[in-house]
Amino acid sequence: MNGNGKAHPPNQNGNTANGNGNGHSSEHNGNNGNGHKTGFLAGSLPSRPSRTQPTRYAHIVGWGMKVPDKVVTNADLEAVVETSDEWIRSRTGIQERRIAAERDSVVSLGFEAARNALDRADILPTEIDLIIVATSTPEDIYPSTACKIQNLLGATKAGAFDLSAACSGFVYALNMASQAIRSGSIEHALVIGTEVNSRVMDWNDRTTCILFGDGAGAVVLTSSEDPGGLLSCVLGADGSGADLLGIPTVGYSALPEGKLLHKLHMNGREVFRFATHIIHESIEEALEKADLKMADVALIVPHQANQRIISAAARSLNVPEALFYSNLHRYGNTSAASIPIAMCEAEREGRILPGDNVVLIGFGGGLTWATAVVQWHKVAPPKPQGMSYKLSQSRREVLYVFAFWRDKFLKSYRRWEARLKGSPTKTANMRQEKGKPADAPPTPARRPDAAKAERKATPEPEKELEKN
Ligand code: COA
Repeated sequence: MNGNGKAHPPNQNGNTANGNGNGHSSEHNGNNGNGHKTGFLAGSLPSRPSRTQPTRYAHIVGWGMKVPDKVVTNADLEAVVETSDEWIRSRTGIQERRIAAERDSVVSLGFEAARNALDRADILPTEIDLIIVATSTPEDIYPSTACKIQNLLGATKAGAFDLSAACSGFVYALNMASQAIRSGSIEHALVIGTEVNSRVMDWNDRTTCILFGDGAGAVVLTSSEDPGGLLSCVLGADGSGADLLGIPTVGYSALPEGKLLHKLHMNGREVFRFATHIIHESIEEALEKADLKMADVALIVPHQANQRIISAAARSLNVPEALFYSNLHRYGNTSAASIPIAMCEAEREGRILPGDNVVLIGFGGGLTWATAVVQWHKVAPPKPQGMSYKLSQSRREVLYVFAFWRDKFLKSYRRWEARLKGSPTKTANMRQEKGKPADAPPTPARRPDAAKAERKATPEPEKELEKN
C-alpha cells in the first residue's frame, strides 16, 4: 500500500515496488528483508512479511450499528426553532433524526455498534488488535472514546485511540486500520464512528440544529490472503476552510467572535459548495487508483449530509442518483457515524453483495475528505444462526460480563495498592518521611550552601520585571 492507501500490485515478496513497502532500505530499518531483525534497531520494529509470507488484504468481515430509540421529527423541531417541515424536507431531504436519551453516550452507542459488528464477524473481542474510534463528540479530550470502548468490550489485546477528522473520520480510520493489517503488524481491527451531535448543537440556531442526529456504526477488519477489501483510498485536507465548520474547545488563546464553546457552528452555503465538488473529484481519483471505472461500482455510500448535495454529486458524475445510497431522511447527519450506519442498512437491504465494489466518501470539517474503494468480501460472513454461532455468541456475552467485573476489580486493586504501598517513587522528596509531621520540610538532599549558590545564580522573576 502506498502513502495514500493505494494497493499497488504487490510483488512476490508481498511488498510494494520500492522494495520493502515503506520506502526505506532494509539496512536502515534494521530488517534483513526476510523477516529477521538485524542491526541497531533490532527489536524496536515489527518484522515485515518474509519472502515466503503471502500478500495480505484487509477485508470488512463484520458490521453493526446502533441508533438511539428517540425519534425527533421535523414537526417536533417546529416547537424549538422557527422552521417548518416543508423547509427542512425541501432544503435537506431530512424528515427525522435520532436523539440520544440521557442514559445514552458516545461510548454506549459505539460499544453497542461494536458488539453488533463483532457478532456479525463472529470473532471474540479478545482477538482484536486495534480499535480506532472516529468521533467529534467525545466524552473527554482524553481518555479516548476508543479506550473506554476497549474496556467495555474486554478487548485486552487491543491498542486504542481516537481519530479526529470530523465527518471524514470513519474513512480515515478505515484506511489507517487497513494499512496496519496490510503491513502485517496486526490481524484484526475494529473501526467505529460514533457521535452524540445533539450535545454540541446550539438549539437556538435553526441553520444547524435541524441537520444533525446521533448514532454509531462499526466494522471489523480482518487480514486475509483473498484479494479484495480496501482497494484504494484518497485522503485530503484543506485547513484554509477550518473556520467554515467546527466545534470550538479549550485550546484557543481567545475564542473567535460569535462562536460558542463546545457548540457546533457552520457556514452552510460554503460547506455545500465544497462538498459537491470534492465528492466528484475524490471519487474519480480513488477509482483511478483502484484501476476501476464508474461502471464497475455497485454502490456509492456517501456521508449523509444533505440530499441536495448527493443529487448535485450524481449529476456532476453523470450517474443515476440511485447509485448513491441514502438514508438521511431517517437519521439526518450523524457525522463520523453516517457512513457505517448507511453501509449496514445498504447491506441489509441487499444493495451490497459479496464481491461488489463499493465506494465510501466522507467530507466535512477541517476541511477534510476521504474516499475509499472497497471490494466486499466474496465469502459472505456466516449467518447468525446455528449451534456453533450460538456458542461463540455466548462466549462473547461471557467476555462482556467478565470485562465489567475486570474493570471493577482493577479499579479497587489500584485503590488498595495506593493505600498499602504509598508512593511508587520511594526516594521522592515529596514523600512523607517516617516520624516527621506532615507539614515539616523535607530533608535536603544536597548541601544547603549548594542550594544557596544556585539561588544566587538564578535571577528572581519579580525583580527582573521591576528592572525592566
Ligand atoms: N428553517 C427555515 N428557514 C431557514 C432555516 C430553517 N431551519 N435555516 C435557514 N433558513 C433561512 C435562512 O435564514 C435564509 O433566510 P433569508 O433568505 O431570509 O436570509 C433562507 O432560509 C435561505 O438560507 P440559505 O442558507 O441560503 O439556505 P440553503 O438553501 O443554503 O440551505 C443548508 C441551508 C444549511 C441546508 C445548506 O446550506 C446545507 O445543507 N449546507 C451544507 C451543510 C452540511 O451538509 N454540513 C455538514 C457537512 S459535514
